[in-house]
Amino acid sequence: MKTVMITGCSSGFGLETARYFLARDWRVVATMRTPRLDVLPPSDRLSVLALDVTDPESVRKAVEAAGAIDVLVNNAGIAAASPAELTPMATVREVFETNTFGTIAMTQAVAPQFRQRKAGVVVNVSSSVTRTVYPLIAAYSASKAAVNAFTESMAIELKPFGVRLRLVLPGRSLETNFGENGRSHMHGLDHEAYVGIVQKFFAMMGDTSSPLTHAQDVAEAVWRAATDPSSPMRIPAGADAEAAAAEAR
Ligand SMILES: NC(=O)c1ccc[n+]([C@@H]2O[C@H](COP(=O)([O-])OP(=O)(O)OC[C@H]3O[C@@H](n4cnc5c(N)ncnc54)[C@H](OP(=O)(O)O)[C@@H]3O)[C@@H](O)[C@H]2O)c1
Repeated sequence: MKTVMITGCSSGFGLETARYFLARDWRVVATMRTPRLDVLPPSDRLSVLALDVTDPESVRKAVEAAGAIDVLVNNAGIAAASPAELTPMATVREVFETNTFGTIAMTQAVAPQFRQRKAGVVVNVSSSVTRTVYPLIAAYSASKAAVNAFTESMAIELKPFGVRLRLVLPGRSLETNFGENGRSHMHGLDHEAYVGIVQKFFAMMGDTSSPLTHAQDVAEAVWRAATDPSSPMRIPAGADAEAAAAEAR
């Protein structure tokens, strides 16, 4: 039986991905900052572990407790929206600590077992905003672009050892707690210089008439990344992300 370890399973894409793998008879190590058993269906193939990806000791303990795994899904992430000049450096650092350094730390923590076993897959949940450029999310986009660069470079190093790395690029989803969780990382949105751009951005973000990404799309893309060795390095998830990827080709 194969085992997947997933970060950020308390809500959104991580939770849906945990459900998706459980339904396909995998062993699932669902990690959360505050572990909760009630969000997932009861199963003897499910372990719920505490993990804060920004805390090196928490990373070490969770990877040790998970034991041998076949797939790591780095899904934990936080949103931030601010005019770039008004984004406090503390917020920029916080976004990178979770989205970028947390992903790197987890990937480094599992790499030795994958390399020695000559098998394993790391799936990093990035974003389609690394492909389509938007204002007001400069720090967030930069944190995910760094994940893309890290993943693509490390993939070359680990390919000779039979270890694969993949990127899943979801589009815009209104089904998760992402916007709500990101509220404490929004700054300067009422600054008079940016009123017009802020209004346009939030109208676009809340628009339900154009294609969107569903949590199920992300779970399916992660599944493909995990199970299909012929999958491309960058896998779009969601109708909007797929349209953006097609436009870029
Ligand atoms: N929603 C979108 O439009 C969208 C689009 C493209 C990409 N993404 C990416 O998709 C991923 C999942 O986001 P989502 O939309 O599902 O949002 P979400 O519902 O807010 O889920 C994010 C998860 O990350 C966890 N998390 C945050 N900081 C963490 C930390 N330091 N250590 C461990 N876990 C942490 C959260 O846990 P807590 O409950 O403890 O906060 C939560 O479970 C993120 O990487 C995000 O950047 C989202």
